[in-house]
Amino acid sequence: MTLTTQGFAFADLFADGLPAAAPPWTGFPRFNFVGGHNDPGLVPVDALADAAADALRADGDKLAIYHLGQGPLGFAGLRGFVAGKLERRGIATSPDSVLITSGSLQGLDYVNALLIEPGDTVMAEEFTYSGALAKVRARGAEVVGVPLDGQGMRIDLLEARLEELRGRGIRPKYIYTIPTIQNPTGTILPLERRLALVELSRRYGVPIFEDECYADLTWAIDAPPALFGLAPAQVIHIGSFSKSLAPALRVGYLTATEPALGTILAGKNDGGTGAVDQMVVAAYFGRHFDDHVRRLTKGLHGKLDTMAEAVAREFGTEAEVWAPAGGIFLWLKLPDEVDVRQLVGPAARRGVAFNPGPDWAVDPEAGRSHLRLCFALPSHEDIRAGVAELAAACFETFGTPARGANTVRK
Ligand SMILES: Cc1ncc(COP(=O)(O)O)c(C=O)c1O
Repeated sequence: MTLTTQGFAFADLFADGLPAAAPPWTGFPRFNFVGGHNDPGLVPVDALADAAADALRADGDKLAIYHLGQGPLGFAGLRGFVAGKLERRGIATSPDSVLITSGSLQGLDYVNALLIEPGDTVMAEEFTYSGALAKVRARGAEVVGVPLDGQGMRIDLLEARLEELRGRGIRPKYIYTIPTIQNPTGTILPLERRLALVELSRRYGVPIFEDECYADLTWAIDAPPALFGLAPAQVIHIGSFSKSLAPALRVGYLTATEPALGTILAGKNDGGTGAVDQMVVAAYFGRHFDDHVRRLTKGLHGKLDTMAEAVAREFGTEAEVWAPAGGIFLWLKLPDEVDVRQLVGPAARRGVAFNPGPDWAVDPEAGRSHLRLCFALPSHEDIRAGVAELAAACFETFGTPARGANTVRK
Protein backbone atom coordinates (compact mmCIF):
# COMPACT_ATOMS: atom_id res chain seq x y z
CA MET A 1 0.00 0.00 0.00
CA THR A 2 1.25 3.50 -0.80
CA LEU A 3 0.57 6.17 1.79
CA THR A 4 0.03 9.73 0.64
CA THR A 5 -0.31 12.89 2.65
CA GLN A 6 -3.69 14.58 2.61
CA GLY A 7 -5.04 17.79 3.96
CA PHE A 8 -2.37 20.26 2.87
CA ALA A 9 0.29 20.69 0.21
CA PHE A 10 3.14 19.08 2.10
CA ALA A 11 5.48 19.37 -0.88
CA ASP A 12 5.20 23.18 -0.80
CA LEU A 13 7.38 23.03 2.30
CA PHE A 14 10.14 20.89 0.81
CA ALA A 15 13.57 22.43 0.54
CA ASP A 16 14.71 23.67 -2.86
CA GLY A 17 16.80 21.48 -5.10
CA LEU A 18 15.56 18.08 -3.94
CA PRO A 19 15.48 15.20 -6.42
CA ALA A 20 12.13 13.91 -7.70
CA ALA A 21 10.50 11.37 -5.36
CA ALA A 22 11.87 7.86 -5.82
CA PRO A 23 9.52 5.54 -7.71
CA PRO A 24 8.37 2.39 -5.90
CA TRP A 25 10.90 -0.41 -6.14
CA THR A 26 9.78 -2.98 -8.66
CA GLY A 27 12.37 -5.69 -8.07
CA PHE A 28 15.38 -6.84 -10.03
CA PRO A 29 15.32 -7.76 -13.70
CA ARG A 30 15.95 -11.39 -14.66
CA PHE A 31 19.49 -10.64 -15.89
CA ASN A 32 20.89 -8.05 -13.52
CA PHE A 33 24.28 -6.69 -14.60
CA VAL A 34 23.74 -3.40 -12.77
CA GLY A 35 25.46 -2.02 -9.69
CA GLY A 36 28.16 -3.50 -7.51
CA HIS A 37 26.47 -6.52 -5.98
CA ASN A 38 28.45 -9.52 -4.81
CA ASP A 39 28.05 -13.23 -5.47
CA PRO A 40 25.39 -14.61 -3.08
CA GLY A 41 26.98 -18.06 -3.27
CA LEU A 42 30.22 -16.63 -1.90
CA VAL A 43 28.76 -15.02 1.20
CA PRO A 44 30.07 -17.24 4.02
CA VAL A 45 26.74 -17.49 5.78
CA ASP A 46 27.60 -20.15 8.39
CA ALA A 47 30.91 -18.61 9.29
CA LEU A 48 29.26 -15.19 9.57
CA ALA A 49 26.62 -16.67 11.88
CA ASP A 50 29.38 -18.12 14.08
CA ALA A 51 31.25 -14.83 14.01
CA ALA A 52 28.09 -12.95 14.99
CA ALA A 53 27.40 -15.30 17.90
CA ASP A 54 30.98 -15.05 19.16
CA ALA A 55 31.08 -11.28 18.73
CA LEU A 56 27.79 -10.75 20.52
CA ARG A 57 28.83 -12.98 23.41
CA ALA A 58 32.10 -11.10 23.74
CA ASP A 59 30.89 -7.52 23.31
CA GLY A 60 27.08 -7.59 23.21
CA ASP A 61 26.72 -5.76 26.53
CA LYS A 62 28.43 -2.73 24.97
CA LEU A 63 25.47 -2.31 22.58
CA ALA A 64 23.86 -0.39 25.46
CA ILE A 65 26.29 2.46 24.84
CA TYR A 66 26.56 4.72 21.78
CA HIS A 67 29.69 3.80 19.78
CA LEU A 68 30.01 0.79 22.13
CA GLY A 69 31.68 3.21 24.53
CA GLN A 70 34.76 3.20 22.27
CA GLY A 71 34.49 6.66 20.75
CA PRO A 72 33.21 7.98 17.42
CA LEU A 73 35.93 6.39 15.24
CA GLY A 74 34.18 3.02 15.57
CA PHE A 75 34.59 -0.45 17.05
CA ALA A 76 38.17 -0.80 18.24
CA GLY A 77 38.42 -4.44 17.13
CA LEU A 78 37.53 -3.50 13.56
CA ARG A 79 39.78 -0.45 13.51
CA GLY A 80 42.64 -2.69 14.60
CA PHE A 81 41.87 -5.12 11.80
CA VAL A 82 41.69 -2.31 9.22
CA ALA A 83 45.01 -0.85 10.39
CA GLY A 84 46.63 -4.26 9.83
CA LYS A 85 45.01 -4.60 6.43
CA LEU A 86 46.19 -1.11 5.44
CA GLU A 87 49.71 -2.01 6.49
CA ARG A 88 49.65 -4.70 3.81
CA ARG A 89 48.84 -1.94 1.29
CA GLY A 90 51.96 -0.07 2.35
CA ILE A 91 50.17 2.25 4.76
CA ALA A 92 51.71 2.74 8.18
CA THR A 93 48.79 3.71 10.37
CA SER A 94 47.24 2.98 13.75
CA PRO A 95 43.69 2.10 14.80
CA ASP A 96 43.37 5.70 16.06
CA SER A 97 43.73 6.99 12.50
CA VAL A 98 40.97 4.79 11.09
CA LEU A 99 37.37 6.00 10.96
CA ILE A 100 34.74 3.32 10.35
CA THR A 101 32.08 4.55 7.93
CA SER A 102 28.71 3.27 6.73
CA GLY A 103 30.12 2.03 3.44
CA SER A 104 32.57 4.05 1.42
CA LEU A 105 29.64 6.11 0.15
CA GLN A 106 29.68 7.79 3.56
CA GLY A 107 33.42 8.27 3.15
CA LEU A 108 32.74 10.09 -0.13
CA ASP A 109 30.23 12.32 1.65
CA TYR A 110 32.69 13.15 4.42
CA VAL A 111 35.49 14.05 2.06
CA ASN A 112 33.17 16.16 -0.08
CA ALA A 113 31.81 17.92 3.01
CA LEU A 114 35.38 18.64 4.10
CA LEU A 115 36.59 20.07 0.80
CA ILE A 116 33.87 21.02 -1.66
CA GLU A 117 31.94 24.23 -2.05
CA PRO A 118 29.72 25.27 -4.97
CA GLY A 119 31.81 26.42 -7.92
CA ASP A 120 34.80 24.24 -7.00
CA THR A 121 36.59 21.94 -9.41
CA VAL A 122 37.71 18.36 -8.84
CA MET A 123 39.57 16.03 -11.19
CA ALA A 124 38.80 12.40 -11.89
CA GLU A 125 39.52 9.64 -14.38
CA GLU A 126 37.44 10.27 -17.56
CA PHE A 127 35.44 7.12 -16.80
CA THR A 128 34.75 6.76 -13.10
CA TYR A 129 32.33 5.72 -10.39
CA SER A 130 28.93 7.30 -11.09
CA GLY A 131 28.19 7.69 -7.37
CA ALA A 132 31.29 9.83 -6.92
CA LEU A 133 30.39 11.99 -9.93
CA ALA A 134 26.83 12.47 -8.70
CA LYS A 135 27.91 13.47 -5.21
CA VAL A 136 30.42 16.05 -6.44
CA ARG A 137 27.93 17.55 -8.88
CA ALA A 138 25.20 17.66 -6.23
CA ARG A 139 27.47 20.02 -4.31
CA GLY A 140 27.66 22.36 -7.28
CA ALA A 141 31.24 21.46 -8.21
CA GLU A 142 32.60 20.75 -11.67
CA VAL A 143 34.50 17.59 -12.60
CA VAL A 144 37.40 17.72 -15.04
CA GLY A 145 38.19 14.35 -16.64
CA VAL A 146 41.66 12.89 -17.16
CA PRO A 147 42.04 10.24 -19.89
CA LEU A 148 42.72 6.61 -19.01
CA ASP A 149 44.56 3.82 -20.77
CA GLY A 150 45.14 0.16 -19.92
CA GLN A 151 47.30 1.27 -16.98
CA GLY A 152 44.88 3.69 -15.39
CA MET A 153 45.05 7.47 -15.28
CA ARG A 154 47.32 9.11 -17.91
CA ILE A 155 49.52 11.08 -15.55
CA ASP A 156 51.16 12.99 -18.41
CA LEU A 157 47.72 14.28 -19.39
CA LEU A 158 46.86 15.00 -15.76
CA GLU A 159 49.84 17.32 -15.67
CA ALA A 160 48.65 19.09 -18.82
CA ARG A 161 45.16 19.55 -17.31
CA LEU A 162 46.56 20.81 -14.00
CA GLU A 163 48.71 23.31 -15.85
CA GLU A 164 45.78 24.46 -17.94
CA LEU A 165 43.62 24.90 -14.83
CA ARG A 166 46.40 26.78 -13.07
CA GLY A 167 46.57 29.10 -16.08
CA ARG A 168 42.88 29.87 -15.48
CA GLY A 169 43.51 30.49 -11.78
CA ILE A 170 41.81 27.25 -10.71
CA ARG A 171 43.22 25.03 -7.95
CA PRO A 172 41.18 21.81 -7.92
CA LYS A 173 40.03 20.61 -4.52
CA TYR A 174 41.19 17.05 -5.14
CA ILE A 175 42.13 14.44 -7.70
CA TYR A 176 39.68 11.55 -7.24
CA THR A 177 41.17 8.26 -8.33
CA ILE A 178 40.45 4.55 -8.07
CA PRO A 179 44.02 3.41 -8.74
CA THR A 180 43.67 -0.26 -7.83
CA ILE A 181 41.02 -1.98 -9.96
CA GLN A 182 39.57 1.16 -11.41
CA ASN A 183 35.80 1.36 -11.66
CA PRO A 184 34.71 0.79 -14.42
CA THR A 185 37.83 -0.18 -16.43
CA GLY A 186 39.45 -2.63 -13.98
CA THR A 187 42.98 -1.22 -14.45
CA ILE A 188 45.79 -1.03 -11.88
CA LEU A 189 47.95 2.08 -11.80
CA PRO A 190 51.64 1.05 -11.93
CA LEU A 191 54.11 2.25 -9.29
CA GLU A 192 55.85 4.77 -11.61
CA ARG A 193 52.54 6.45 -12.31
CA ARG A 194 51.69 6.44 -8.61
CA LEU A 195 54.96 8.19 -7.82
CA ALA A 196 54.40 10.69 -10.62
CA LEU A 197 50.85 11.35 -9.41
CA VAL A 198 51.99 12.00 -5.87
CA GLU A 199 54.68 14.36 -7.19
CA LEU A 200 52.13 16.32 -9.26
CA SER A 201 49.82 16.53 -6.27
CA ARG A 202 52.66 18.02 -4.23
CA ARG A 203 53.76 20.40 -6.96
CA TYR A 204 50.28 21.75 -7.68
CA GLY A 205 49.06 21.63 -4.07
CA VAL A 206 46.10 19.41 -4.95
CA PRO A 207 45.22 16.53 -2.58
CA ILE A 208 44.54 13.03 -3.85
CA PHE A 209 41.32 11.28 -2.89
CA GLU A 210 42.05 7.56 -3.17
CA ASP A 211 39.12 5.12 -3.34
CA GLU A 212 40.26 1.54 -2.96
CA CYS A 213 37.21 -0.64 -2.49
CA TYR A 214 38.28 -3.30 -5.03
CA ALA A 215 41.96 -3.60 -4.05
CA ASP A 216 41.52 -6.99 -2.34
CA LEU A 217 40.04 -8.53 -5.47
CA THR A 218 42.98 -8.65 -7.87
CA TRP A 219 44.05 -11.57 -10.03
CA ALA A 220 46.27 -10.23 -12.80
CA ILE A 221 49.11 -8.54 -10.93
CA ASP A 222 49.85 -7.64 -7.35
CA ALA A 223 48.85 -4.07 -6.71
CA PRO A 224 51.61 -1.56 -5.92
CA PRO A 225 51.35 0.27 -2.57
CA ALA A 226 48.39 2.53 -1.98
CA LEU A 227 48.90 6.22 -2.76
CA PHE A 228 48.21 7.03 0.90
CA GLY A 229 51.25 4.94 1.83
CA LEU A 230 53.41 6.93 -0.59
CA ALA A 231 52.40 10.39 0.63
CA PRO A 232 50.09 10.31 3.68
CA ALA A 233 49.93 14.07 4.12
CA GLN A 234 48.61 14.57 0.57
CA VAL A 235 46.04 11.78 0.41
CA ILE A 236 42.71 10.82 1.92
CA HIS A 237 42.04 7.10 1.56
CA ILE A 238 38.74 5.24 1.71
CA GLY A 239 37.96 1.54 1.50
CA SER A 240 35.07 -0.80 2.06
CA PHE A 241 34.02 -4.31 2.98
CA SER A 242 31.21 -4.15 0.42
CA LYS A 243 33.21 -5.82 -2.32
CA SER A 244 35.43 -8.12 -0.25
CA LEU A 245 32.51 -9.34 1.88
CA ALA A 246 29.00 -7.98 1.34
CA PRO A 247 27.58 -4.58 0.32
CA ALA A 248 24.41 -4.85 2.41
CA LEU A 249 26.54 -4.81 5.58
CA ARG A 250 27.38 -1.13 4.98
CA VAL A 251 30.84 -1.16 6.52
CA GLY A 252 33.69 0.93 5.12
CA TYR A 253 36.56 3.01 6.44
CA LEU A 254 38.48 6.21 5.94
CA THR A 255 41.99 7.18 6.89
CA ALA A 256 43.64 10.58 6.68
CA THR A 257 46.24 12.59 8.53
CA GLU A 258 45.41 15.49 10.83
CA PRO A 259 43.81 17.97 10.65
CA ALA A 260 41.65 16.33 7.95
CA LEU A 261 40.66 13.29 10.03
CA GLY A 262 39.76 15.26 13.15
CA THR A 263 37.75 17.77 11.14
CA ILE A 264 35.81 14.98 9.45
CA LEU A 265 35.25 13.36 12.84
CA ALA A 266 33.91 16.61 14.26
CA GLY A 267 31.17 16.50 11.60
CA LYS A 268 30.28 12.85 12.19
CA ASN A 269 26.96 13.05 13.96
CA ASP A 270 25.17 9.88 12.87
CA GLY A 271 25.62 7.91 16.10
CA GLY A 272 28.04 5.55 14.39
CA THR A 273 27.93 2.72 11.89
CA GLY A 274 25.86 -0.31 12.95
CA ALA A 275 27.86 -1.89 15.75
CA VAL A 276 26.82 -5.49 15.12
CA ASP A 277 27.93 -5.15 11.51
CA GLN A 278 31.31 -3.86 12.62
CA MET A 279 31.68 -6.62 15.20
CA VAL A 280 30.77 -9.34 12.71
CA VAL A 281 33.24 -8.12 10.08
CA ALA A 282 36.01 -7.91 12.69
CA ALA A 283 35.26 -11.38 14.08
CA TYR A 284 34.95 -13.06 10.67
CA PHE A 285 37.86 -11.36 8.93
CA GLY A 286 40.01 -11.64 12.05
CA ARG A 287 40.03 -15.37 11.35
CA HIS A 288 39.31 -15.77 7.66
CA PHE A 289 40.48 -12.81 5.60
CA ASP A 290 43.06 -14.53 3.39
CA ASP A 291 41.13 -17.73 2.73
CA HIS A 292 37.91 -15.78 2.13
CA VAL A 293 39.50 -13.38 -0.34
CA ARG A 294 41.22 -16.27 -2.15
CA ARG A 295 37.91 -18.11 -2.55
CA LEU A 296 35.98 -14.99 -3.56
CA THR A 297 38.58 -13.88 -6.09
CA LYS A 298 38.69 -17.32 -7.68
CA GLY A 299 34.90 -17.39 -7.98
CA LEU A 300 34.75 -13.89 -9.45
CA HIS A 301 37.53 -14.64 -11.92
CA GLY A 302 35.55 -17.68 -13.09
CA LYS A 303 32.49 -15.49 -13.66
CA LEU A 304 34.57 -12.96 -15.56
CA ASP A 305 35.76 -15.77 -17.85
CA THR A 306 32.17 -16.79 -18.47
CA MET A 307 31.15 -13.23 -19.23
CA ALA A 308 34.15 -12.51 -21.46
CA GLU A 309 33.41 -15.70 -23.43
CA ALA A 310 29.74 -14.78 -23.73
CA VAL A 311 30.56 -11.27 -24.94
CA ALA A 312 33.06 -12.65 -27.48
CA ARG A 313 30.52 -15.22 -28.68
CA GLU A 314 27.56 -12.83 -28.92
CA PHE A 315 29.23 -9.58 -29.98
CA GLY A 316 32.37 -10.84 -31.75
CA THR A 317 34.61 -8.02 -32.88
CA GLU A 318 31.81 -5.49 -32.37
CA ALA A 319 32.72 -5.24 -28.68
CA GLU A 320 35.99 -3.76 -27.47
CA VAL A 321 36.58 -5.12 -24.00
CA TRP A 322 38.85 -3.84 -21.22
CA ALA A 323 40.22 -6.98 -19.57
CA PRO A 324 39.96 -6.20 -15.83
CA ALA A 325 42.83 -7.11 -13.51
CA GLY A 326 40.30 -7.94 -10.77
CA GLY A 327 36.98 -6.78 -9.38
CA ILE A 328 33.43 -7.40 -10.51
CA PHE A 329 32.94 -5.43 -13.74
CA LEU A 330 33.48 -5.75 -17.44
CA TRP A 331 33.69 -2.42 -19.28
CA LEU A 332 33.15 -2.55 -22.98
CA LYS A 333 32.60 -0.38 -26.00
CA LEU A 334 30.18 -1.13 -28.81
CA PRO A 335 30.40 0.43 -32.29
CA ASP A 336 30.04 4.22 -32.48
CA GLU A 337 26.54 4.03 -33.94
CA VAL A 338 25.30 2.41 -30.73
CA ASP A 339 24.00 4.95 -28.24
CA VAL A 340 23.59 2.75 -25.17
CA ARG A 341 20.98 5.11 -23.72
CA GLN A 342 18.68 3.88 -26.47
CA LEU A 343 19.53 0.28 -25.62
CA VAL A 344 18.31 0.49 -22.01
CA GLY A 345 14.59 0.09 -22.90
CA PRO A 346 14.94 -2.73 -25.46
CA ALA A 347 17.33 -4.60 -23.13
CA ALA A 348 14.91 -4.19 -20.21
CA ARG A 349 12.11 -5.68 -22.32
CA ARG A 350 14.30 -8.77 -22.65
CA GLY A 351 14.95 -8.80 -18.90
CA VAL A 352 18.46 -7.30 -19.04
CA ALA A 353 19.74 -4.36 -17.02
CA PHE A 354 23.19 -2.84 -17.51
CA ASN A 355 24.94 0.38 -16.53
CA PRO A 356 25.05 2.80 -19.47
CA GLY A 357 28.48 4.32 -20.11
CA PRO A 358 27.33 7.97 -20.02
CA ASP A 359 26.57 7.61 -16.29
CA TRP A 360 30.16 6.47 -15.73
CA ALA A 361 31.76 9.22 -17.79
CA VAL A 362 32.82 12.74 -16.84
CA ASP A 363 31.71 13.73 -20.35
CA PRO A 364 28.58 11.63 -20.95
CA GLU A 365 29.04 11.79 -24.75
CA ALA A 366 32.44 10.11 -24.41
CA GLY A 367 30.66 7.14 -22.84
CA ARG A 368 27.76 6.95 -25.30
CA SER A 369 28.77 3.57 -26.76
CA HIS A 370 30.19 2.11 -23.54
CA LEU A 371 28.52 -0.07 -20.99
CA ARG A 372 29.40 -1.69 -17.69
CA LEU A 373 28.36 -5.21 -16.80
CA CYS A 374 28.65 -6.57 -13.25
CA PHE A 375 29.30 -10.30 -13.37
CA ALA A 376 29.32 -11.04 -9.63
CA LEU A 377 25.61 -11.43 -8.93
CA PRO A 378 24.19 -13.54 -11.81
CA SER A 379 24.87 -17.26 -12.13
CA HIS A 380 27.13 -18.51 -14.94
CA GLU A 381 24.02 -19.64 -16.76
CA ASP A 382 22.32 -16.24 -16.42
CA ILE A 383 25.49 -14.49 -17.55
CA ARG A 384 25.46 -16.50 -20.81
CA ALA A 385 21.71 -16.11 -21.35
CA GLY A 386 21.66 -12.43 -20.37
CA VAL A 387 24.54 -11.46 -22.66
CA ALA A 388 22.76 -13.28 -25.52
CA GLU A 389 19.59 -11.27 -24.80
CA LEU A 390 21.58 -8.05 -24.64
CA ALA A 391 23.15 -8.76 -28.03
CA ALA A 392 19.71 -9.57 -29.47
CA ALA A 393 18.32 -6.27 -28.11
CA CYS A 394 21.29 -4.42 -29.59
CA PHE A 395 20.78 -6.05 -33.00
CA GLU A 396 17.07 -5.24 -32.91
CA THR A 397 17.78 -1.60 -32.14
CA PHE A 398 20.95 -0.85 -34.09
CA GLY A 399 21.43 -3.74 -36.55
CA THR A 400 24.61 -4.76 -34.76
CA PRO A 401 26.15 -7.22 -33.85
CA ALA A 402 25.05 -8.90 -37.08
CA ARG A 403 26.82 -12.15 -36.23
CA GLY A 404 26.50 -13.94 -32.91
CA ALA A 405 27.06 -17.45 -31.58
CA ASN A 406 28.33 -18.43 -35.05
CA THR A 407 25.09 -17.49 -36.79
CA VAL A 408 23.99 -14.47 -38.79
CA ARG A 409 21.20 -12.61 -36.98
CA LYS A 410 18.03 -11.83 -38.90
C1 LIG B 1 34.63 3.11 -6.55
C2 LIG B 1 33.52 2.96 -5.57
N1 LIG B 1 33.54 3.69 -4.45
C3 LIG B 1 32.57 3.59 -3.54
C4 LIG B 1 31.52 2.71 -3.71
C5 LIG B 1 30.47 2.65 -2.65
O1 LIG B 1 30.47 1.43 -2.03
P1 LIG B 1 30.04 1.14 -0.53
O2 LIG B 1 29.38 2.37 0.02
O3 LIG B 1 29.12 -0.01 -0.60
O4 LIG B 1 31.31 0.85 0.19
C6 LIG B 1 31.46 1.91 -4.85
C7 LIG B 1 30.35 0.98 -5.06
O5 LIG B 1 30.16 0.38 -6.09
C8 LIG B 1 32.50 2.04 -5.80
O6 LIG B 1 32.52 1.30 -6.92
